[in-house]
Amino acid sequence: METLLLDAARPEALEHAAQLLRAGRLVAFPTETVYGLGARGLDPDAVERIFIAKGRPHSDPVILHVADATWVRELVRETPPLLATLAEAFWPGPLTVVLPRSARVPDLVTAGMDSVAVRVPAHPVALELIRRVGEPIAAPSANLFGRTSPTVAHHVLQDLAGRIDAVLDGGSTTVGVESTVLDLCGEQPAILRPGGITREALEAVLGCAVYLRGAAAGDDTAPQRSPGLLTRHYSPRAEVLLYDGPDAAVYSAVRRVARESDPRTTALLLFSEDLEPLRDLAGERVDLGSRADPAQAAHALYAAFRDLDARGIRRILVRTAPPAGLGAALNDRLTRAASGRVHRPGADGNAA
Ligand code: TXA
Ligand code: MG
Repeated sequence: METLLLDAARPEALEHAAQLLRAGRLVAFPTETVYGLGARGLDPDAVERIFIAKGRPHSDPVILHVADATWVRELVRETPPLLATLAEAFWPGPLTVVLPRSARVPDLVTAGMDSVAVRVPAHPVALELIRRVGEPIAAPSANLFGRTSPTVAHHVLQDLAGRIDAVLDGGSTTVGVESTVLDLCGEQPAILRPGGITREALEAVLGCAVYLRGAAAGDDTAPQRSPGLLTRHYSPRAEVLLYDGPDAAVYSAVRRVARESDPRTTALLLFSEDLEPLRDLAGERVDLGSRADPAQAAHALYAAFRDLDARGIRRILVRTAPPAGLGAALNDRLTRAASGRVHRPGADGNAA
């Protein structure tokens, strides 16, 4: 099939995209986090096309995107009391909540589980599209399974040209990493995937502790509350070597490995503060912005991965950010890209 590239700024393009979706077809569209691959969410045949196009296993459930919180009612058996507070504070926005599902939701959407994930995206194109279709839109990130999520329309085409009906081009996404997935089915709210809404923000609004559950990157032995959260995920083709620790220890480990690596196929993904201390190293360098501003690095990360792949880079050296705020989501994605291996130079018995 030919994949149409539609300019989201044109009203007729939005209507065309809505028509395709209503007809059960696949349309990729921008959200504030990453591009999603949309299909009518309550139509199993349409949702099945998503799995085929992405090469995604059926064990991985998808998020339903709705236009506002009132749409959640028909999708759930009950509404946890915290939901209203969260919706008020964070919707539209990069927060996905996992709720007890109703019989309206196809098994394919939930991977047969008893819960459904829902969010209201904070992007005018996404919201207008959902309103025009008039029903929830199932949308995983619009990449081939296992690849990094697309943050511009061109990334979607790299992975899915010829496999989907259309891409609505709405420019670059703002957040750059996926939504936070928060499970409200248990006794306590628990983060299944750190993302665009920080744990600190959730705790401040809820006034209670929010746990980071099971799915910690690097631990595939923990029970998979969120089956999509396999460690090797969100990865470039290049090998990613991730370093964590104080400046001096990280610099000397990075320096040693960089010197052993082929500078033509090695890249340093650096925070601005690290550019100067590591200026002696050869190889491609990418500036992720200040370590004090992980939101900027999160915004740039996936595009940097794709760009380095396109330039034939085989090895990427990168360090973790301080874990506060969006640093948690950034470190989670870096850890997954590094297949769960974090080098902690200087830490006891675990030198790089
Ligand atoms: O920002 C985002 O969330 C983007 C945009 C397009 O909205 N979407 C996205 O979807 O990242 P996807 O499918 O790539 O990731 C959704 C994650 C997966 O890890 C999946 O396992 C988890 O949410 N998930 C979906 N339904 C779930 C459920 N019922 N219970 C637990 N986890 C669920
Ligand atoms: Mg994804």
